[in-house]
Amino acid sequence: MSKRNAACVLLVEDDSAIATVIEAALADEGLSTTRVASLAARDAALAKQPFDVMLTDVILEDGDGLATLASVRREAPIMPIIVLSAQNTLDTAVRASDSEAFEYFPKPFDLDELVQAVCRAVGGRGEPEEAAPEPEVESLPLVGRSPAMQSVYRMITRVLRNDLTVLVTGESGTGKELVAEAIHQLGSRRTGPFVAVNTAAIPANLIESELFGHEKGAFTGAIAQAIGKFEQANGGTLFLDEIGDMPAEAQTRLLRALQSGRIRRVGGRQEIEVDVRIIAATNRDLEPLIASGAFRQDLFYRLNVVPIALPPLRERREDIEVLANHFLALAAEEGLPRRTLAPDAIATLEELPWRGNVRELRNAIYRLAVMARDDVIETSQIEDVIVAEAKGASLDPFEFEPGFEAALAHWLDQEEPAHGTVYHSALAAFEKPLIEHALSETRGNQLRAAKLLGINRNTLRKRIVELRVEPDRFSRTS
Ligand SMILES: Nc1ncnc2c1ncn2[C@@H]1O[C@H](COP(=O)(O)OP(=O)(O)OP(=O)(O)O)[C@@H](O)[C@H]1O
Ligand SMILES: [Mg+2]
Repeated sequence: MSKRNAACVLLVEDDSAIATVIEAALADEGLSTTRVASLAARDAALAKQPFDVMLTDVILEDGDGLATLASVRREAPIMPIIVLSAQNTLDTAVRASDSEAFEYFPKPFDLDELVQAVCRAVGGRGEPEEAAPEPEVESLPLVGRSPAMQSVYRMITRVLRNDLTVLVTGESGTGKELVAEAIHQLGSRRTGPFVAVNTAAIPANLIESELFGHEKGAFTGAIAQAIGKFEQANGGTLFLDEIGDMPAEAQTRLLRALQSGRIRRVGGRQEIEVDVRIIAATNRDLEPLIASGAFRQDLFYRLNVVPIALPPLRERREDIEVLANHFLALAAEEGLPRRTLAPDAIATLEELPWRGNVRELRNAIYRLAVMARDDVIETSQIEDVIVAEAKGASLDPFEFEPGFEAALAHWLDQEEPAHGTVYHSALAAFEKPLIEHALSETRGNQLRAAKLLGINRNTLRKRIVELRVEPDRFSRTS
């Protein structure tokens, strides 16, 4: 992947010994280097020709290479930047700089690692003649035209032709996973696998095996060799979801894998080289977690090379109408009744708080598609279906666990079920976990889940909506 011819590297380094070593190592990879030793020479070089990647030292004779990155960004908005630094003030500098894409290597650094990083940065570049056209923003599976979303789209297009690590942040339901999928599907790794792993959902003692795999007999229960998510994602993208909830030990192991580009299966001897693009996501605010020591700062820097922050839906209400229409169209494509929203209904939707963000809007629209009385959805129906539900009148008043059996016994003991509600409540309480179980068995495949349950696929789809099952939760790729 690194042997593209003559990618151009701009190396800004005033220590000529270091510069010579780096230049030679890059030449071995077929990369040509332009060396400069000052900020003035850097800016002159950038003005003259485009570069595929820039490596820069921090302290230079005429100023600070990091503090002036913003001006470089204006000149070369999508060029990956790798910072080489002997400073431990990087921490503050990194935050102060508004550069949007870089990795950093503290000096002394491992030359092989640096070369790998450069190759990764130019890896997606492609030969000019065969380069895919820049994807149109319209081709993104994401909907919404608010200024906030447009800057998200801009960030996405900046990482399609390289393998820079991306950290997607935003409240639950804002579309983090969708962004990760979009980067994969539109990027240069689209022909490789997309593997998602929710690190928060895995018991701490199994995370290592889940990520890196294990050899037979590595621990009690390891009855056969297993390939981990890193290896499964080889040649493609590994999506590390809920990264903020990862236990400390797993963070350390993950950091090591990211630094070396190699993994070792639990109980395994040899290190295995893996070629994966990492996209991480979290709905937690990482800063306080870093401050309290719950999240490793060095891991944060490794992951936060290109940050993409998704704003909550309430801060981009202008997107609600287009999202609502988008979901109505999707629902119709999936066989639900085709409906439209009356203007006052749209206004009502625009005023709701949407604490669950786009996911909540999506589920609400699907419920409306199933339950609305008319083809044109009016405000009153929104109030019936969504607002009433938000107040607690949901379809599943009983949770399956805990205490399900006691509740069931209680219902069955009732001599005169009141107005049939017990019957329906009990059914719903049974049915939802049953459907969820079938979906988790089939990893979210609704066709297979329907077969498993012995019901029609359309019936399943309808019940999923009515019972507010979230099929997304089960459709993890693996
Ligand atoms: N801009 C968007 N356009 C279209 N659909 C969207 C958009 N944003 C989110 N969605 C949809 O909303 C739902 C939730 O999105 P997603 O799963 O990506 O959220 P998330 O940020 O990963 O949430 P969580 O933190 O809970 O995991 C999905 O069905 C997704 O397809
Ligand atoms: Mg998610």
